[in-house]
Formats: sequence, structure tokens, C-alpha cells
Amino acid sequence: MTPDSQPRVFATRHLPGRAFEALAEEVTLEVWPGPGGPPPETLRAALRDAEGLLCLLTDRVDRALLEAAPRLRVVSSCSVGLDHVDVAAAAARGIAVGHTPGVLTETTADLAFALLLAAARHIPEADRFVREGAWTPARRWEPDLLLGRDVHGATLGIVGLGAIGRAVARRAQGFGMRVVGWSRSPGAVEGVERVELEALLRGSDFVSLHVALAPATRGLLGRRELGWMRPDAVLVNTARGGLVDEEALAEALREGRLAAAALDVFEEEPLPPTSPLRAAPNLVLAPHIGSASVATRTRMADLAVANLRAGLAGEPLPHEARPEAP
Ligand code: GLV
Repeated sequence: MTPDSQPRVFATRHLPGRAFEALAEEVTLEVWPGPGGPPPETLRAALRDAEGLLCLLTDRVDRALLEAAPRLRVVSSCSVGLDHVDVAAAAARGIAVGHTPGVLTETTADLAFALLLAAARHIPEADRFVREGAWTPARRWEPDLLLGRDVHGATLGIVGLGAIGRAVARRAQGFGMRVVGWSRSPGAVEGVERVELEALLRGSDFVSLHVALAPATRGLLGRRELGWMRPDAVLVNTARGGLVDEEALAEALREGRLAAAALDVFEEEPLPPTSPLRAAPNLVLAPHIGSASVATRTRMADLAVANLRAGLAGEPLPHEARPEAP
């Protein structure tokens, strides 16, 4: 194929791995150099004549953008979540949408468990304690220094029993935890006792969120639901910030109505300087790194490229998203 007859693809970031490197030989590839993603007007201009878009979860692909992209045939996001893409608007225009489930399940579950342990055992505070010189001879070993919560023997409530929720359940079983779970879709999960959301929140020592962000799940943990949690409970969120009322969460932590939280995701990212979460006590923060291992990010990029290729060829995508039933 001559460069003129090759499909035009815009990638909003350079991705790791060989599949992405090889793409440049098959398509006319324009890659936004970063750092950060392209501003919306640049993305809009780039899509005027592109047939393929390779994007990240930080790129908003809404109806207006899709309407300004007359030749677009495939949107391939290097993410499992697709709350940044208007999948229904894409489907209505015959544009296939791909994403990367499966390959990041175990890595994201690892981070959820790391955050759970970090919050339970005050790991960030312990690190600061040593670095900041508070570990003095006078405080060499104190019976009540940095006392945390036992994870073994505790009850973990998993909200959302999809692949990542189930992977977290397996880790919890290895730690000798009792696992309860709630999910909108039915089906038994080995070793997980299914309960209603209220019972899960009232009865769990640790709660970990693993549902996709959609209109039906936005604000799933509002003021009332956070109020159901026990004052000694810990909330972990590696899914999406919009699932939780952040103001109510900051207030619950401040007032000691919730013992701790560990968050990898936020309603607005990066976390704004004015966020009430910044001043909240007993809060472990991470900058959306759930899938951030070398191997997993490469697998995600490979799958995103495979989805893109299939879409350009008019073939079914290895992982194609369908619009949610209304
Ligand atoms: C990460 O949050 C993803 O959706 O891949």
C-alpha cells in the first residue's frame, strides 16, 4: 500500500510495545507527542480525515467529536473503562469501539490489594515516620506505634463481581478473609457470599469497588451509603472516582465515621488542589496506576492495536464494546 492509500490513524499518545511500533508501517500514523494528551481542539482537527483513533481514558470522545469525524471507522481505547467514550453515539454512526479488558485484571487486583494493605497497616505513615526522623532511639519500639487493622480474618465486601472483583476475591481468600459480594448481574462466584449492597456496606471491615462507571452507578456510594459503613471500616477504590461522593467521603474521614480509605481514582484527575480529599486524614492516595505494570501496559497496547487493526479492516474487534441497554 502506498502511504496515500493507507488508512490514517491518530494516536493520542505513544504506546509501549512492538505492535504499536509496527503500526507505523501499515497506516499513516500521527502520534501526539505529549506530555499529556492533545487539547480537544487538536483532537477534533486530527479526526477530520482520520479513519482510526487510538486513545486513552483521558481523551473525551463524545458525540460532538464523533460528528466532526466523518471518515472515522474505529475508536480503540487503551483502557478497560469506556466512560470517556460515547459508545452509543459511535454505534449510531457505525463506528466500532474497542477496549482492553482481561489483560489488566490481575494487575489491577494487585493494586487494589496493595492499597487495602497499605491503608490497613498505615504503610504511607510508617514510611514518613522513618524518613522524617521521628523514629528516634526513644521511640525504638513502642507497643502502640502505628497500630493498624488485621486483614486476615476480616470481612471484605466486593462491590462488582466482574473479572477484577473476582480476582480481588481470590487474593482475599488467600489472606484468610471472609468475602461477601454485590453485583448488578446474577451468578454465583466461588467463595463469595452474595449479599445486598446495604448489608455489604454495613457488615464489611474492608470494601473494595469494582464496577464500571455508568449513569446507573454514578454516585453509587453517596452520603447515605457511606453512612451505612462501619466507623472502623476501610474503603478502597481502584475503579472510577465518580462512583463515590468525594465530599461526603472526606467528611466521613474527617469526622471519624470511616476509619480509612485508599483511592487510585478520582472524580476529577489529576486530583485538584482544592479537593476536600487532600486534607482528609487516614487516606492513601495514588495517581490512577491500577494497570501500571510494564507487562500489562504492553499487553494493553497490543490489544488496543489489534482492536484498531480489526476495525480498519472491517472485521469484528477482539474486544468490542456494545452500547448499554437503556
Ligand atoms: C483504567 O482505569 C482502565 O480503564 O483501563
